[in-house]
Amino acid sequence: MRDTKKEIAVDESELSRQLEYMHIIREKNDMFEHETGKKKKFYSLAMGCQMNAHDSEKLEGMLDEMGYERTEEETEADFVIYNTCCVRENAEQKVYGKLGWLKHYKKDKPDTVIALCGCMMQQDSVLQTLRKKYRHVDIVFGTYNLYKLPELMNTRMESGETIYDIWQEHEEIVEDLPSIRHFHYKASVNIMFGCNNFCTYCIVPYVRGRERSRMPEDILDEVKNLAADGVKEIVLLGQNVNSYGKNLDEPVSFAKLLRMINEIEGIERIRFMTSHPKDLSDELIETMKDCDKVCKSLHLPVQSGSSEILRRMNRNYTKESYLETVRKVKEAMPGITLSTDIIVGFPGETEEDFQETLDVIRKVGYSTAYTFIYSKRTGTPAATMENQVEENVIKDRFDRMLNVLNPMIHELNEKMVGKEVMVLAEEISKHNENVLTGRADNNALVHFEGNKDFIGKLVPVRIIENKTFYFIAERI
Ligand code: SAH
Ligand code: SF4
Ligand code: F3S
Repeated sequence: MRDTKKEIAVDESELSRQLEYMHIIREKNDMFEHETGKKKKFYSLAMGCQMNAHDSEKLEGMLDEMGYERTEEETEADFVIYNTCCVRENAEQKVYGKLGWLKHYKKDKPDTVIALCGCMMQQDSVLQTLRKKYRHVDIVFGTYNLYKLPELMNTRMESGETIYDIWQEHEEIVEDLPSIRHFHYKASVNIMFGCNNFCTYCIVPYVRGRERSRMPEDILDEVKNLAADGVKEIVLLGQNVNSYGKNLDEPVSFAKLLRMINEIEGIERIRFMTSHPKDLSDELIETMKDCDKVCKSLHLPVQSGSSEILRRMNRNYTKESYLETVRKVKEAMPGITLSTDIIVGFPGETEEDFQETLDVIRKVGYSTAYTFIYSKRTGTPAATMENQVEENVIKDRFDRMLNVLNPMIHELNEKMVGKEVMVLAEEISKHNENVLTGRADNNALVHFEGNKDFIGKLVPVRIIENKTFYFIAERI
């Protein structure tokens, strides 16, 4: 076993160093193909949020450059990479489950290389478990040195040893990594990395480090290149996009960045996530309203409706200020759809606190809500708080919450029936090859009849049926 600590300082030449390693591996893989008539295959799985998925696109881009071909079957792969998440316990359990399964598989196919990366790998306890129980893993790296994949693979090939390369924190951002997009007409763009908020339940700041914004020029260049490549919709990613640009030498607000992106020709839709309610500014509301390409849907995670719980979560807003923000947003953009994240069962949550959450749900009227049962994350302040709520109480609240949420979502969606909207056709439905799925400007998921020629196009449709979590529409 070998520990490669932070040996190389990242400077401008870091990318070209990695390109060289990509080239070395490519030559080996080309030779393999020449000799066997087969290409080496990779299997890649992103197990976390949209940022994690976007990181995987970069990993896949590098693997593609190195001459690997993607496979959807783990059992066919020469190189398996799981990009892990640790935001809730079940995300971690899933990784261990997969590794247990791979252990058997690797007995029959010992040359398969297994790599793990991402948020979960930034935790010491996980590394200890891997070293002890999962010795069939070959390469382990974290969230700060993703771009080093080619070098780590090369070291592994040359030494045959297990590679652990976990950095604790990293300031710089390596630009211009190759990347494979899953859709040709829509793309994610990181505008910042890390998080400074330290919500008391959340592990993300510990595994993703402090907030770092990319330079606006780099973001604009990337979006222009995407537009030139046929991309119509972009999603700007950050743990808290509303604090974008505050730590740049020449600060630029997120609202200003949006205005600049709105000017880019070819881009037709701009989405972003996540917006922290504590600093959603009036400037941003104005900008969303003014910019025709900025979609009129907003993800505004409330987490809880109780001001006391919000205080203990360190969210820095109250129930009242959240509702006031929602009021302003709706006033500025009537018809905007709102989505949210809610945690049930934060330590000390009483029935009264829970009722406050239901009250917010009723008052706001979300079109989508991602609901989570509180998961204790070791190392976060909430993990050691008193009065952890009992599991059966949480489950009961969770069910009652869905009983309030789902009928409301259905009722709200009824307003959409009969409306004419533009849908960006995304893919053929998994259940019916004559049906396309896509999203309206307000993020509504829409199914309509059509063929693959529509994919990537904005299609006018009329909504004819509300199925609660999606709509049926007809082309007009
Ligand atoms: N930066 C984003 C969220 C990132 S994590 C934001 O602040 O909104 C995505 C969601 O996971 C969070 O909004 C929260 O609802 C949920 N989450 C985070 N930690 C959790 C935990 N320990 N238990 C349950 N849900 C959690
Ligand atoms: Fe986690 Fe809070 Fe940061 Fe979101 S804002 S990533 S919930 S600490
Ligand atoms: Fe995302 Fe999970 Fe990491 S939610 S930031 S992949 S812990």
